[in-house]
Amino acid sequence: MSQQHFRPEHEDITEDMWQDIDRIIARNKDSPGAVIPVLRECQEQVGYLPMLLLDHIGLGLNLPRSEVFGIASFYGLFSFAPKGRHTIKICKGTACFVKGVNEVIRRIEQEYKVPEGGTDQERRFSLESVRCLGACGFAPVMLVDNDTHGCVSADRINNLLDGYE
Ligand code: FES
Repeated sequence: MSQQHFRPEHEDITEDMWQDIDRIIARNKDSPGAVIPVLRECQEQVGYLPMLLLDHIGLGLNLPRSEVFGIASFYGLFSFAPKGRHTIKICKGTACFVKGVNEVIRRIEQEYKVPEGGTDQERRFSLESVRCLGACGFAPVMLVDNDTHGCVSADRINNLLDGYE
Protein backbone atom coordinates (compact mmCIF):
# COMPACT_ATOMS: atom_id res chain seq x y z
CA MET A 1 0.00 0.00 0.00
CA SER A 2 1.51 3.32 -0.99
CA GLN A 3 2.18 5.90 1.66
CA GLN A 4 0.25 9.13 1.07
CA HIS A 5 2.06 12.33 1.92
CA PHE A 6 0.68 15.81 2.16
CA ARG A 7 0.76 17.34 -1.31
CA PRO A 8 1.86 20.95 -1.20
CA GLU A 9 0.46 23.44 -3.71
CA HIS A 10 2.56 24.46 -6.65
CA GLU A 11 1.50 26.56 -9.64
CA ASP A 12 3.10 24.18 -12.14
CA ILE A 13 1.81 20.92 -10.64
CA THR A 14 -1.83 20.03 -11.20
CA GLU A 15 -3.82 17.54 -9.14
CA ASP A 16 -3.54 15.00 -11.99
CA MET A 17 0.22 15.45 -12.01
CA TRP A 18 0.39 14.86 -8.24
CA GLN A 19 -1.53 11.62 -8.70
CA ASP A 20 0.86 10.48 -11.43
CA ILE A 21 3.84 11.50 -9.29
CA ASP A 22 2.56 9.42 -6.37
CA ARG A 23 2.03 6.46 -8.69
CA ILE A 24 5.60 6.82 -10.00
CA ILE A 25 6.98 6.90 -6.44
CA ALA A 26 4.86 3.92 -5.31
CA ARG A 27 5.88 1.87 -8.35
CA ASN A 28 9.59 2.46 -7.79
CA LYS A 29 10.03 2.87 -4.06
CA ASP A 30 11.13 -0.69 -3.30
CA SER A 31 13.63 -0.94 -6.16
CA PRO A 32 17.28 -0.28 -5.51
CA GLY A 33 18.40 2.87 -7.31
CA ALA A 34 14.84 4.18 -7.51
CA VAL A 35 15.81 7.85 -7.32
CA ILE A 36 16.97 8.40 -10.89
CA PRO A 37 13.98 6.76 -12.62
CA VAL A 38 11.62 8.60 -10.26
CA LEU A 39 13.32 11.94 -10.95
CA ARG A 40 13.28 11.29 -14.69
CA GLU A 41 9.60 10.36 -14.81
CA CYS A 42 8.60 13.23 -12.51
CA GLN A 43 10.51 15.67 -14.71
CA GLU A 44 8.67 14.32 -17.74
CA GLN A 45 5.40 15.07 -15.94
CA VAL A 46 6.16 18.58 -14.74
CA GLY A 47 8.86 19.73 -17.19
CA TYR A 48 11.37 20.42 -14.40
CA LEU A 49 11.98 19.57 -10.74
CA PRO A 50 10.89 22.29 -8.31
CA MET A 51 12.46 22.01 -4.82
CA LEU A 52 9.10 21.23 -3.33
CA LEU A 53 8.79 18.23 -5.64
CA LEU A 54 12.24 17.02 -4.58
CA ASP A 55 11.01 17.18 -0.97
CA HIS A 56 7.96 15.16 -1.91
CA ILE A 57 10.06 12.55 -3.71
CA GLY A 58 12.40 12.37 -0.71
CA LEU A 59 9.48 11.74 1.64
CA GLY A 60 8.07 9.08 -0.68
CA LEU A 61 11.40 7.28 -1.03
CA ASN A 62 12.42 7.79 2.61
CA LEU A 63 15.48 9.79 1.67
CA PRO A 64 16.60 13.19 2.91
CA ARG A 65 16.17 16.06 0.49
CA SER A 66 19.96 16.62 0.48
CA GLU A 67 20.46 13.13 -0.92
CA VAL A 68 17.75 13.50 -3.58
CA PHE A 69 19.10 16.92 -4.56
CA GLY A 70 22.69 15.64 -4.56
CA ILE A 71 21.82 12.83 -6.96
CA ALA A 72 19.68 15.08 -9.16
CA SER A 73 22.36 17.75 -9.44
CA PHE A 74 25.12 15.23 -10.19
CA TYR A 75 23.56 14.33 -13.53
CA GLY A 76 23.14 16.95 -16.25
CA LEU A 77 19.73 15.47 -17.05
CA PHE A 78 17.69 17.40 -14.55
CA SER A 79 16.50 20.96 -14.44
CA PHE A 80 15.46 22.79 -11.28
CA ALA A 81 13.90 25.77 -13.02
CA PRO A 82 11.07 26.00 -15.55
CA LYS A 83 12.04 25.70 -19.20
CA GLY A 84 10.78 27.74 -22.12
CA ARG A 85 8.64 26.25 -24.88
CA HIS A 86 11.75 26.44 -27.09
CA THR A 87 15.35 25.82 -26.13
CA ILE A 88 18.10 27.81 -27.82
CA LYS A 89 21.53 26.21 -27.57
CA ILE A 90 24.16 28.60 -28.77
CA CYS A 91 27.75 27.60 -29.37
CA LYS A 92 30.50 29.43 -27.54
CA GLY A 93 33.32 27.36 -28.98
CA THR A 94 36.38 29.07 -30.43
CA ALA A 95 35.18 29.42 -34.04
CA CYS A 96 31.81 30.80 -32.96
CA PHE A 97 33.48 33.14 -30.48
CA VAL A 98 35.79 34.51 -33.17
CA LYS A 99 32.81 35.04 -35.50
CA GLY A 100 30.98 37.15 -32.94
CA VAL A 101 28.67 34.85 -31.02
CA ASN A 102 28.73 37.11 -27.97
CA GLU A 103 27.01 39.86 -29.94
CA VAL A 104 24.33 37.39 -31.02
CA ILE A 105 23.80 36.32 -27.41
CA ARG A 106 23.54 39.92 -26.21
CA ARG A 107 20.95 40.66 -28.91
CA ILE A 108 18.84 37.61 -27.96
CA GLU A 109 18.99 38.66 -24.30
CA GLN A 110 17.87 42.20 -25.15
CA GLU A 111 15.20 41.41 -27.73
CA TYR A 112 13.62 38.42 -26.04
CA LYS A 113 14.34 39.31 -22.40
CA VAL A 114 15.92 35.94 -21.82
CA PRO A 115 19.12 35.76 -19.77
CA GLU A 116 21.91 33.44 -20.83
CA GLY A 117 21.43 30.29 -18.75
CA GLY A 118 17.80 31.14 -18.01
CA THR A 119 14.25 31.47 -19.32
CA ASP A 120 12.14 34.52 -20.10
CA GLN A 121 9.12 35.33 -17.96
CA GLU A 122 6.63 34.14 -20.58
CA ARG A 123 8.56 30.87 -20.82
CA ARG A 124 8.95 31.21 -24.54
CA PHE A 125 12.70 30.63 -24.75
CA SER A 126 15.40 29.07 -22.61
CA LEU A 127 18.90 30.16 -23.63
CA GLU A 128 21.86 27.86 -23.02
CA SER A 129 25.42 28.23 -24.15
CA VAL A 130 27.19 25.04 -25.19
CA ARG A 131 30.57 23.92 -26.47
CA CYS A 132 31.41 23.24 -30.10
CA LEU A 133 28.42 21.86 -31.98
CA GLY A 134 30.71 20.37 -34.64
CA ALA A 135 29.69 22.74 -37.44
CA CYS A 136 32.50 25.30 -37.10
CA GLY A 137 32.48 26.04 -40.86
CA PHE A 138 29.05 27.65 -40.32
CA ALA A 139 30.00 29.65 -37.21
CA PRO A 140 28.28 31.14 -35.32
CA VAL A 141 25.97 28.18 -34.89
CA MET A 142 22.88 27.68 -32.77
CA LEU A 143 20.21 25.06 -32.29
CA VAL A 144 16.59 25.99 -31.66
CA ASP A 145 14.92 22.81 -30.45
CA ASN A 146 16.02 20.36 -33.17
CA ASP A 147 16.71 22.96 -35.89
CA THR A 148 20.31 23.88 -36.65
CA HIS A 149 21.01 27.45 -37.76
CA GLY A 150 24.42 28.44 -39.08
CA CYS A 151 26.08 31.78 -39.89
CA VAL A 152 23.71 33.51 -37.50
CA SER A 153 24.15 37.21 -36.87
CA ALA A 154 22.70 39.68 -34.41
CA ASP A 155 20.89 41.45 -37.25
CA ARG A 156 19.20 38.27 -38.48
CA ILE A 157 18.11 37.07 -35.06
CA ASN A 158 14.55 38.40 -35.23
CA ASN A 159 13.93 36.73 -38.60
CA LEU A 160 15.13 33.53 -37.15
CA LEU A 161 13.46 33.47 -33.74
CA ASP A 162 10.14 35.18 -34.48
CA GLY A 163 8.94 31.94 -36.08
CA TYR A 164 9.10 30.13 -32.74
CA GLU A 165 6.00 30.98 -30.78
S1 FES B 1 32.97 26.27 -32.39
FE1 FES B 1 30.86 26.57 -32.74
S2 FES B 1 30.34 24.89 -33.99
FE2 FES B 1 32.41 24.56 -33.53
